[in-house]
Amino acid sequence: MSSRHVLTIDGPAASGKSSTAQWVARTLGWRHVDSGSVYRAATFARQQSPGTPATWTEPSVLSAAAGIGLTPVDGSFVPTLAGTPLGDEIRNLVVTAEVSRVAQMSGVRQWVNRVVQQAAEGHDVVVDGRDMGTVVFPDASLKIWLVADPWERARRRLQQRLGRGPSDEEIAAETDELVQRDAKDATQTVQARDAVLIDTTYLTQPEQVERIAALARSVASKR
Ligand code: CDP
Repeated sequence: MSSRHVLTIDGPAASGKSSTAQWVARTLGWRHVDSGSVYRAATFARQQSPGTPATWTEPSVLSAAAGIGLTPVDGSFVPTLAGTPLGDEIRNLVVTAEVSRVAQMSGVRQWVNRVVQQAAEGHDVVVDGRDMGTVVFPDASLKIWLVADPWERARRRLQQRLGRGPSDEEIAAETDELVQRDAKDATQTVQARDAVLIDTTYLTQPEQVERIAALARSVASKR
């Protein structure tokens, strides 16, 4: 049996999975793989080819996604398209609106799962997404299910995006979008039965990172 450690962090949109996963990985000296960034990169790659989103078929997404790779950067991975690193463009409005539909294509899910497993291969890793603890790493040593109140998730996401405290109107609009995306993602967002639930609504980020890192250390020391 392999002695490597896999920590999965799953949960709804904007629950802080990726930033927490990255920070926990750094604290532990493990690798971090963000599966959502691969779904976003595939959607972005398809957006660069001709045709409106209504014409996006699974074969056309997979063909566009063939140009995607993952490059290791600072213990994490950055998606690349034709060798060029992708940054904030994978968070553009069209990608965010269409990624849930792209992520429902079974061939795309199989492809992302392979990419994520290859990046994680042979390393102690923290992986985050929607189904890491159920479908992709069902034998993970520790599974976290990260949730937070939708209003608080929307406030944090806007603070991160705008770099300032958002107004109540802005938070209300963002909350609607998050709740709609959660509904679209419902089938692929699955809480593992053996996951530890952490509600971060009233936690600071350092508190949630320390809580998860402490659980991971405790599990790792017992194996
Ligand atoms: O950060 P946020 O939760 O807003 O989203 P993300 O992690 O960047 O993921 C973007 C989208 O990818 C989600 O809305 C899902 O549609 C899809 N996704 C998925 O289906 N399965 C995963 N394991 C990760 C992401």
